Amino acid sequence: MQEQFNIVVLISGKGTNLQALIDASHKSTYKISAVISNNAKAIGLSRATTSGIDTYVIEPKSFNSQLEFENSLAARIAEINPNLIVLAGFMKVLGPQFIKLFHGKIINIHPSLLPEYPGLNTHQRVLKDKKKIHGVSIHFVTEDLDGGPIIAQEQVDVLSDDTVESLARRVLEREHIIYPKVLESLALGKIQISDYEV
Ligand code: GRF
Repeated sequence: MQEQFNIVVLISGKGTNLQALIDASHKSTYKISAVISNNAKAIGLSRATTSGIDTYVIEPKSFNSQLEFENSLAARIAEINPNLIVLAGFMKVLGPQFIKLFHGKIINIHPSLLPEYPGLNTHQRVLKDKKKIHGVSIHFVTEDLDGGPIIAQEQVDVLSDDTVESLARRVLEREHIIYPKVLESLALGKIQISDYEV
């Protein structure tokens, strides 16, 4: 029998990607062991609770430094001992110590065709640059912000009448399809970290 592939999902806000991962998990090989938010007000927390998933809130403001915050986050994750840490709209940049500790075990979804448009406000910048193609990337997290090895990408056409909102909506819809698929491939071992230079 396939061994259970446990993931911890880190969120900060709405959690629509989390919802897509929850919905797909019922017919997938991966199991969401816990959801951790760095923001007590994240709507995504109630999505997890509704689905009977353990939730934890670890907020930077409860600590004296970013390092202490990350140590607490790391300790919680180490207790859960997941196969993979899945960032889904987690808006806090993680430091080198944390990333080293979970080397090759953290993935992120980013709303652009990396290496183009790392960082924030990707949709605004794509429209400002009058790009015809935009998209979404899933990548391993390394110390290089939004710069780790890319696991999967999908393109989204930019329409002539697109606004930030309309473009963001279509990219997000694509995120909701691609993230569960990548998770399932990782859970089944079809995608392996050894295939990447992480
Ligand atoms: C998504 O666009 C994701 O790519 C980015 O933040 C957004 C989070 O959305 N990192 P949600 O919280 O999953 O709804």
